Amino acid sequence: MMKRIGVLTSGGDAPGMNAAIRSVVRCGIEAGLEVYGIERGYEGLIDGEIRQMDRRSVGDILQRGGTILKTARSQRFMTEEGMTKALTMLDTFGIEGLVAIGGDGTLHGALELSKRGVKVMGLPGTIDNDLAYTDFTIGFDTAVSTVLDAITKIRDTSSAHERVSVIEVMGRNCGDIALYAGLTGGAEDVIVPELPVDINKICRKVVIGTNHGKMQSIIIKAEGAPIDSNELVEEMIKRTGREVKLVVLSYLQRGGSPTMRDRLLATLCGSKAVELLASDSSSKAIGVVDGQIMEYDLASALEMEHHINMDMYNLIGVLSK
Ligand code: F6P
Repeated sequence: MMKRIGVLTSGGDAPGMNAAIRSVVRCGIEAGLEVYGIERGYEGLIDGEIRQMDRRSVGDILQRGGTILKTARSQRFMTEEGMTKALTMLDTFGIEGLVAIGGDGTLHGALELSKRGVKVMGLPGTIDNDLAYTDFTIGFDTAVSTVLDAITKIRDTSSAHERVSVIEVMGRNCGDIALYAGLTGGAEDVIVPELPVDINKICRKVVIGTNHGKMQSIIIKAEGAPIDSNELVEEMIKRTGREVKLVVLSYLQRGGSPTMRDRLLATLCGSKAVELLASDSSSKAIGVVDGQIMEYDLASALEMEHHINMDMYNLIGVLSK
């Protein structure tokens, strides 16, 4: 029976990571395990920044963005030397199971550890929603809510000045933040990395809209889309003759108190991770599919390919006519 588990957050922080840590720590203690918090992700694992957590150490964090364990993107962990140090550290602390909370890079790191005999549960913690095995990642809902809040505010000024606004959102190579915010925020169009950019289509939309009296338009552009945001704006000004302003939301999207959906997903995934570790399960990736918390073989989960939801994409075109 496993006695000690560790928990870490790695990669870009995401709202709800703290809720996941709280769930892992408290469910772990409830299951009779000792739970160790590892700071700064795989970096802290290599350096032995490890401390035992008790119930109180995760008090008053459920509602906070960021991560109390801190996070990092570790280059060292990708080397054989770093990996060996990490494994030695786990052995030194007697940690047999690990909960790794993060995005694609974090879960690939978890897979490498699992190949070397560590039981690892991967929790999808990223605002990007780019992990194909789960419908949603922890932090995505909050990030989209933040974008919606920004759209509402930009609309006010954009409408007062009769301007077109291009809003650049995060997501790395995934267009989901743009897609969901575009559909639920009433954008005229979204530009995502998964689809080619049709600048004529976007400009036509703006021109036709203007001719029908639509004096303000919102275009959501994902950061990973194959066109530079400044170039896009310049081109739109040239082709439409309208005033076009760029707003880059950047790190705003990573902060803030997690929504109910993110807290729930984080809490349920954390509890599932402990349940699996306590029952000596092999390494898994945990997520949500059709509203159910699911676990997948870690390697298979990471092989799945994420696709943009074309129905949602097409609906944006219909609704914004
Ligand atoms: O993965 C989360 C994310 O915010 C991406 O959307 C973005 O591309 C990236 O992290 C930014 O990374 P960094 O925090 O290293 O600048």
